[in-house]
Amino acid sequence: MSAIQNASIGIVFGTDTGNTEDIAGRIASQLEQYGASANIVDIREADSDVFEQNDLLILGIPTWDFGGIQADWDDVEAMLNTLELSGKTLALYGLGDQFGYGDYFVDAMGWLYQRLKNSQAGFIGFWPVTGYDFEASEALTEDGKHFCGLAIDEDQQFDKTDGRVSAWVKQIVGEFNGLAEAAA
Ligand SMILES: Cc1cc2nc3c(=O)[nH]c(=O)nc-3n(C[C@H](O)[C@H](O)[C@H](O)COP(=O)(O)O)c2cc1C
Repeated sequence: MSAIQNASIGIVFGTDTGNTEDIAGRIASQLEQYGASANIVDIREADSDVFEQNDLLILGIPTWDFGGIQADWDDVEAMLNTLELSGKTLALYGLGDQFGYGDYFVDAMGWLYQRLKNSQAGFIGFWPVTGYDFEASEALTEDGKHFCGLAIDEDQQFDKTDGRVSAWVKQIVGEFNGLAEAAA
């Protein structure tokens, strides 16, 4: 059995209009292809146990109102700062609109990364900027070549979503299993 099949996996999302929840379901379906199963939780119903009792956490956040944080994630900012995440693995995904809000594309995913990057958790799932067309984003790595997680644009590039989700899930499964092998 691979590490991902033995792992407890939580997908925690916040959403205003349902897109980020929909993607949580599609990520969970893709994980099933690898024999892995995930629990999907709305951040409104999540407490610190959800974060501290899963091996792999996949966190989804959309950006609203010119780089703003989705309200339910904003509400838990204090909790995010106090989580005990040593030994956990995190992967982020963010939803946005690169043509409508090209100066703020998936900014909130960058906010989430900043909140958690100094925790004891390890991050996987960085994703290349190739194939997107935007001006600026707070969710980029220092060299500007990657997002800090999967960027999904259901407004402008919905036809690319399934391909992106399946390629990203394949990537994070490989990275998760690789980390487990390295630790063994
Ligand atoms: C009023 C409004 C403001 C938005 N602001 C941003 C933004 O600043 N950056 C961005 O990337 N997307 C922005 N979006 C796009 C949303 O993030 C996108 O539609 C997303 O899929 C919504 O996800 P949800 O349905 O899970 O809430 C905005 C959309 C609307 C309608």
